[in-house]
Amino acid sequence: MPESKSDKQTESVATKEISDEPDQRQEPETLETRAKAVLKNNDKGLFTIPAEGIYPHQWLWDSCFISIGMRHYDIERAKLEIFSILKGQWSNGMVPHMVLNPIVRDDRGKRLRDSRVWRSWLNPYSPDDISTSGITQPPILAEAIVRIGEKMRWPERRTWYKSVFPALVAYHKWLYDERDPHQEGLTLQIHPWETGLDNTPPWMSELHDHLLPFWIRSLRKTRLDVVFGWFRSDVKYAPLEQRESNTDALALYDIQRRFRRKQYDFDRIINHSLFAIEDLTFNSILARANSHLVEIARALREELPPELVESIKKTESTFEQLWDPISNEYFSRDFVTHRPLKQTSIAALMPLYSGVLTKDRAEILVKMLESEHIFGPAYPVPSVPLNSPWFNPVGYWQGPVWINTNWLIIDGLRRYGFNKHADALQESTLELIEKYGFYEYFNPLTGEPAGVDNFSWTAALAIDLMH
Ligand code: GLC
Repeated sequence: MPESKSDKQTESVATKEISDEPDQRQEPETLETRAKAVLKNNDKGLFTIPAEGIYPHQWLWDSCFISIGMRHYDIERAKLEIFSILKGQWSNGMVPHMVLNPIVRDDRGKRLRDSRVWRSWLNPYSPDDISTSGITQPPILAEAIVRIGEKMRWPERRTWYKSVFPALVAYHKWLYDERDPHQEGLTLQIHPWETGLDNTPPWMSELHDHLLPFWIRSLRKTRLDVVFGWFRSDVKYAPLEQRESNTDALALYDIQRRFRRKQYDFDRIINHSLFAIEDLTFNSILARANSHLVEIARALREELPPELVESIKKTESTFEQLWDPISNEYFSRDFVTHRPLKQTSIAALMPLYSGVLTKDRAEILVKMLESEHIFGPAYPVPSVPLNSPWFNPVGYWQGPVWINTNWLIIDGLRRYGFNKHADALQESTLELIEKYGFYEYFNPLTGEPAGVDNFSWTAALAIDLMH
């Protein structure tokens, strides 16, 4: 990739720091300087990859979390991260979950052709000059925009907001126009990747119980799914037991392939949908993002489209439908039947972040967080509660602690005034990183790291938590 403006900028800042300061006054190595070094290492100039080798592209929610960390020391670079995501926005408003890096080589130097896996160009709304995925990810974009804005004085903040407002409105409009076809106020997701929690139990249990294609079941029975494992690139970087199983990974790629065959045309997809789930994490993040969008519009004295204002209000009033009075917790639900998907996961705590709960409900969620049998092991917060049959302390999104979900929970706790809980979680999260490094995820029982090292959002959110 040609050297970018921002590369040069970062370099000149670095050189300046080195040449202006006498040696002994150089920044000592702290958690923060180490975190910045991780982000610099993963910086591809215009965007930041989640981690070297395993994740060579730009991911939507990763980049939002990354920019939330970067804003503390390089506001221009944080803005660039967001502009780069928006370059991949489709003309119907969708912000894809991946913007593909055109030049990626594997460890033997062979060019990877991930753009042919997605073939976003099959869809007429996709951008002409850039390849992307054909689905989205949790809409945390508005949060990143506001957090970056917090670091500016009003005139600059206004310019910043103005530069992203039309794209943000188009994204939220798309979310409701396409993903809330019954105008319920809750959006539906069509692939577990859209939730960001790839192999999370509620989705995987649907997949295993009803939707696993016959040929994948047969492969699993005959144990031939292991052959697929030979072609998986992620297991070159982390052991298979820390990733999703071969069957699950194969099934997720199979769904992606079906979408591609339908050219990412939502109507064609939804007519034969394998999954159509109103996901709790996604909708919690959307509810919060809506309030940021309203705040941005107000600051700019701009009107939001009336249908969008209606949808936003509806989300606030119908969110409570995800509450299950029998289990006393929130669940994702099936889009068509409204059946709650009763496998508890970290999603159960995400409504704290949404900000649309009553304090009473928030208290119930905090009790789950306090219980050492549920979400309160030695190193909280596990992505699946300890008392779940799905719990596996190193199993990707089926047990490990992830720093981004901790960050969302900390924020939610503060919103509802649980400051002591928030402080404690903030401290244990930073302790985990200080002790073991910037890993992708951690074992909630022992604190031991898992997944890959030098993971960008772990570094970025550590910086944010320290500030
Ligand atoms: C995995 C995670 C997802 C993340 C992506 C890139 O797919 O499940 O949340 O965005 O990796 O880090």
